Amino acid sequence: MSDARPRGRFISLEGGEGVGKSTQVKRLAAALRDRGLDVIETREPGGSPGAEAIRALLMQGDVQRWTPETEALLFAAARADHVARTIRPALDRGAWVVSDRFLDSSLAYQGGADGLGGETIRTLHAIGSGGLLPDRTLVLRLPVDEAEAREHARDGGRPDRFAARGRDYHAAVAAAFARLADMEPERLRLVDASGAAGTVTQRLLAALDDL
Ligand code: TMP
Repeated sequence: MSDARPRGRFISLEGGEGVGKSTQVKRLAAALRDRGLDVIETREPGGSPGAEAIRALLMQGDVQRWTPETEALLFAAARADHVARTIRPALDRGAWVVSDRFLDSSLAYQGGADGLGGETIRTLHAIGSGGLLPDRTLVLRLPVDEAEAREHARDGGRPDRFAARGRDYHAAVAAAFARLADMEPERLRLVDASGAAGTVTQRLLAALDDL
């Protein structure tokens, strides 16, 4: 683990299911490359061979497969490998890293909706990943109805272990993201995810202007 401030920039995209995050990660990375930047796209859980192996444990199987505590540890372990093998090396060589989800997903899902609390999640992150935080976290927001419709169109009704949780769970996740944005307004920005994909990408770029 190196404590030196990395030279590149670290951007994470967050939000509930069906807000169009994965599309926007690709579009945002392409727009940054157009400006001549060295950009890597990555995702969580996953983003390194070890973390992708942990992803399979987390995403497949019965909804009740793991307790919330075990899940939080698995996400933190996957993140530790992702940071050590993919994110830190890229930042150290001066690249921009655009990640589909990062710590704030654990804070919103395990810390918020599952009730483990933010302190527990941040402690695991300090142990696993040296507490590394993104320079900016863009939280995509859509009304729950619209997100559900998009999610259903994408999955064709075959949700993973998280998408299968009920509407109340996903409302709790959305509320947790809003609280996180209130707590850290400099790092987290809420971005309206409605409308055409190109319009959303422009909103994301505007939220990175000062970087
Ligand atoms: P996705 O690849 O469709 O974004 O699915 C990842 C799922 O895992 C999503 O439902 C959110 C959940 N998740 C957590 O609960 N905690 C985390 O730390 C991360 C990264 C994801």
